[in-house]
Amino acid sequence: MEGLVSSLFDVQSLPETYVLPPEIRPGELSFRPDESNNIPVLDLGGHDRNEIIQQIMKASQEFGFFQVINHGVSKELMDETMNVVKEFHAMPAKDKFLECSKDPNRNCKLYTSSEKYATEEVHYWRDCLMHSALSTEEYMQFWPANPTRYREVVGTYSNEVKQLGSRILKLISQGLKLSSGYFSGSLSTSPTILINHYPRCPEPSLTLGLPRHRDPSLITIILQDHVQGLQVFKDGEWITVEPLPHAFVVNIGYVLQIVSNDKLNGAEHRVVTNSSDARTTVSFFIYPSSESIIEPAKPLVSTCGDHPPLYRALKFKDFHINFLSKSADAEAVHDFISSKNI
Ligand code: OGA
Ligand code: NI
Repeated sequence: MEGLVSSLFDVQSLPETYVLPPEIRPGELSFRPDESNNIPVLDLGGHDRNEIIQQIMKASQEFGFFQVINHGVSKELMDETMNVVKEFHAMPAKDKFLECSKDPNRNCKLYTSSEKYATEEVHYWRDCLMHSALSTEEYMQFWPANPTRYREVVGTYSNEVKQLGSRILKLISQGLKLSSGYFSGSLSTSPTILINHYPRCPEPSLTLGLPRHRDPSLITIILQDHVQGLQVFKDGEWITVEPLPHAFVVNIGYVLQIVSNDKLNGAEHRVVTNSSDARTTVSFFIYPSSESIIEPAKPLVSTCGDHPPLYRALKFKDFHINFLSKSADAEAVHDFISSKNI
């Protein structure tokens, strides 16, 4: 059984296996907000649909990230979800593993660091509970039954965030001048939830909660705690996504970058740790079904003109398997999906 980071809570110095090579260490962190370079905060409660679309497109192109407020998900549900997932991660390790070992397909699982723990050279300071965000009995029977309110709260949360995701994807499809239902079929039918927990860390300058990565999703919707930690790479700098109470963080994933033929940017991001507060986040990944084909949308490419397809057509499962095996090497992933590889 892998040792969870949350079981290491009282260590005074960072175990050797978490010390990153110097070139990817975050170094001394200062969370000074840079007013001129903040992730845009968009109000989804406004009435001017075209204006919202323009704001989403601009943020997605410039940052690959934005935050949303007045998004329709109640504050109470967001708070309850955060509380129940924190309660889960606060349980003893053996109880957590017990709650997550019922699924023969391992769709629901608890792991630490990354899905490649056994083979990776260095570990990351994170524990993660992952399961389908489809709240039907077929999937929910494998979700944790403890804390006792887990299924009810996370089930309701998943349904609401799925709806919010559909709404945002409709706005994006309109912004890309695709049909409004472009993303509503098999491209978005397999949402998955990742419940990340980053305990207090004795030496935050030497390690990371998550390494620099893009998400292999269409979009990801994140509920973050009040603790800073998520950073976006832009113009050679790491920008902290400021925690805003009851806002959601939205980021463009690799699949949307592919479908939009690079009109939108799947931003690179990472998670840093800190020594004073644990941090818990709920990442909602909107994923295609494993058999669906991902490729640049036909209306966005012209084979003879200025917009050749930059990516080849792949089944999502083939993209995803390759992505997971090469996630530390962005160039290798790009080579695999590039149209030059046909
Ligand atoms: C992720 C991720 C950010 C966070 O789950 O892929 O980037 O702040 N999470 O936990
Ligand atoms: Ni991510």
